[in-house]
Amino acid sequence: MTALHEPPPSRQRGGDDRAAPAPAPAHSRLRLALALLALAAAASASGAGAAGAAGNAAAARADEIVSGKCFVCHGADGESSSPIFPRLAGQHSAYIARQLADYKSGRRKSTTMQPMVDDLAGADFTALGAYFAAKPVHAHAVEDPELAGMGRYIFNRGNPFSGVAACSTCHGAAGHGTETLPRLAGQHALYTENQLKQFNKRERTNDNAVMHAIASKLTELEMKAVAAYISGLK
Ligand code: HEC
Ligand code: HEC
Repeated sequence: MTALHEPPPSRQRGGDDRAAPAPAPAHSRLRLALALLALAAAASASGAGAAGAAGNAAAARADEIVSGKCFVCHGADGESSSPIFPRLAGQHSAYIARQLADYKSGRRKSTTMQPMVDDLAGADFTALGAYFAAKPVHAHAVEDPELAGMGRYIFNRGNPFSGVAACSTCHGAAGHGTETLPRLAGQHALYTENQLKQFNKRERTNDNAVMHAIASKLTELEMKAVAAYISGLK
């Protein structure tokens, strides 16, 4: 009976072990790991980390400008609700930045847009371009499918009888454009038609005359038709 109340021999020995100092190697391993972590952090701060911070600052600046004024007409996501204001979602960033600089310098004239960019600079234009270029594009229904059918021919084949070049040769088969050529797909028909009229009358003159030569050969019906077709492209 008494043997049951005696502490097991192993526990007796354990008392001495607990008093022993913790092994030094574990501490130095931790210190080494912390030093490596600090090194890695320093390396990323001077490289990718700095670029990331600059990118975040530009994105924050674009957010601030868009929520301060642009959203009223173009929507925070570049999906403008009124057909007078161009949709900017998915538009190429370099194209946007250049148009904004042109509005500021007066190369592209707009009494609406000029005061919007008066107090902004080149870095803001780049940030705004990246902001809208990253917004998702949406599909939009065509208002008049019959008119759009005629526009499809002009877009893909031009007008061989009057010498109008096919829009697709420059703007792409789906109207997606490139960094130097604007995306047209999904644009409000009224805005597209207005721009074609501006190009024709040489009221929009920052295009090196390329679009003027094309627009001047389009009839009113052809402008409306091609604008209708473009509005339905995604
Ligand atoms: C009061 C309404 C309004 C506000 C606010 C506004 N815009 Fe505009 N925006 C317009 C109109 C109208 C046009 C078309 C002008 C033209 O015919 O050239 C336009 C055109 C543009 C274009 C040219 C698009 C293209 O496809 O060529 C860009 C880019 C643009 N706006 C960006 C901005 C940015 C960025 C802001 C904020 C700093 C802004 N807009 C604020 C009305 C507005
Ligand atoms: C030879 C190449 C070329 C062809 C063909 C062409 N375009 Fe363009 N288009 C351009 C260029 C370049 C611009 C940009 C002008 C600028 O930088 O301001 C442009 C701009 C535009 C814009 C202004 C977009 C905006 O967001 O404001 C519209 C609208 C447009 N084109 C419609 C058409 C249509 C419709 C056709 C066919 C009938 C067509 N283009 C054929 C080169 C072309």
